[in-house]
Amino acid sequence: MTLADALQTHAPTALAAAAVATAVYSLLEPLLDNGPPGPYSWPLIGALPQASSYLSRSAVHEFFDKVVKDHGPIVRVKLGMIGTMYLVSDAELARRILTSPEFVRSDGVVKIAGEFFGSTLFALTGETWRIHRKMLQPAFGPLHLRHAISVAKEVAKELAEAWTAMIEASPDKEVVVDSHEYFKALTFDFIGKASFTHDFGAIQSVLRGESNQALDDYEKVSHILQSRFAVPQLFWRAAGIDPSSPAVIATRERIQGEIKAVVLERKKQMAANNGKPLRSGVEMDLLDRLLVSASDGTDVFNEDQISGEITGFFFAGHDSTANTLMLALYLLVHDTKAMSKLVDEIDRVYEELEGNVTTENMHRFRYLDGVLKETQRLYPSVVILPRDTVAPVEALGYKIPAGSRMMIQMRALHRNPAYWSHPDDFVPERWESQPVPGSYLPFGDGQHNCIGQKIAPIEMRFVLIDLLRQFRFELHTDQTIEFVTRLTFGLKDGLKVRVSRRER
Ligand code: HEM
Repeated sequence: MTLADALQTHAPTALAAAAVATAVYSLLEPLLDNGPPGPYSWPLIGALPQASSYLSRSAVHEFFDKVVKDHGPIVRVKLGMIGTMYLVSDAELARRILTSPEFVRSDGVVKIAGEFFGSTLFALTGETWRIHRKMLQPAFGPLHLRHAISVAKEVAKELAEAWTAMIEASPDKEVVVDSHEYFKALTFDFIGKASFTHDFGAIQSVLRGESNQALDDYEKVSHILQSRFAVPQLFWRAAGIDPSSPAVIATRERIQGEIKAVVLERKKQMAANNGKPLRSGVEMDLLDRLLVSASDGTDVFNEDQISGEITGFFFAGHDSTANTLMLALYLLVHDTKAMSKLVDEIDRVYEELEGNVTTENMHRFRYLDGVLKETQRLYPSVVILPRDTVAPVEALGYKIPAGSRMMIQMRALHRNPAYWSHPDDFVPERWESQPVPGSYLPFGDGQHNCIGQKIAPIEMRFVLIDLLRQFRFELHTDQTIEFVTRLTFGLKDGLKVRVSRRER
């Protein structure tokens, strides 16, 4: 018998044997290595059948809530193509994962979104990340934060004036708005003005009822990436979401074009200023820093990196902040007691400060601080924080192999009854005392923590102070509220509220 004959005769048997062996291994895998508990794992596809109804309505957070409730602070879950992951909701282990060199940032973002975010701070690792972070961190220093407050005032004023005009023009002196749409535009303009001294005019576009090309393009990227999470890579091209798909290329080129225009404008201004940046030292904005390092001979940032960083900052900074603002409003319009306590505090402290709210005295709005922290506890925008093990580790008594994906499950951590009493309730007062270390990580921890973690709360505080001083917000009852996990956590169809002028 020739080799070809032998293959022909035995191939079906060999294939069947391999399939049976794989199935048996998949069934026994959870038992073989004494790993953490988890939901039943079907051969090859893992817990996909149990998760599919949640995934189909973008509610993976509910599936994770359930498995954490059923199995505890470390859960092993295998989800089809995504593979095996370990969901963690233990405070001490979460901190260890984010701060210890035993764990590294995974390359997930680059794999899913390399052509958009390949050279963006939140996707970079190792030495390149270190250089970028060191160069960019000073743009988030104290002086820049002071500047952020004036920008927050400016965008909040722009929105307040527009809503006032809409209310005045309406017969019953009240309008219904989708707060998410306005907050997205506001946070987008905020990043543009605070970090790049550039106005993309998103608020004005929403007011005119027009779409804003820049904001729309970021929405498109968001949709492309969500689809890539759901569709196996093999089918990306067929689904039109591959890096080589015409619609993807067009979106990327438009974003790059918009960024190039901003960079070009700044380069012209620098040329007119003898090649020097318009600001110096701590006053330099993010774009100044990206350009100076590229043109002073050190060549730290090349054109692609500059473009990548700017794209990344818009992406990381606007959606998470807009969702948090919307969810704070969601909680407040549902809890009228908390709303009036907050409004009372805002009126009182604002008057005591004679309207001069600064980064230094903002801590006096203590209840506001509690409201925002509680919003981020209940609804963290970033739902999971992934890291990979570099070597085998022991975690909560279980052996985890090298190269495993650890996923800090922020929602479960923030609602873990071991650290929080009445974990599902909205209790801003609980922030009068400090939480257990590691039990609250809305901005991450360790070296890769959020670079915007000081600027975002300043922006959100000021926007809420300004809006709640002037307007009364009530829930628009004719809407369906559905929580969804997309790239960040939010509401499927935004949040419609009835807005009227407050009488004071
Ligand atoms: C409520 C608003 C925000 C939330 C909840 C949030 C959350 C986070 C979290 C959890 C991380 C850590 C990711 C990880 O560990 O892998 C992160 C990283 C990051 N965030 Fe934010 N963020 C917010 C606002 C902002 C803003 C306003 C900016 C920019 C101005 C920003 C820029 C970034 C960047 C660049 C990183 C990557 C940092 C690095 O890897 O060195 N974020 N953010």
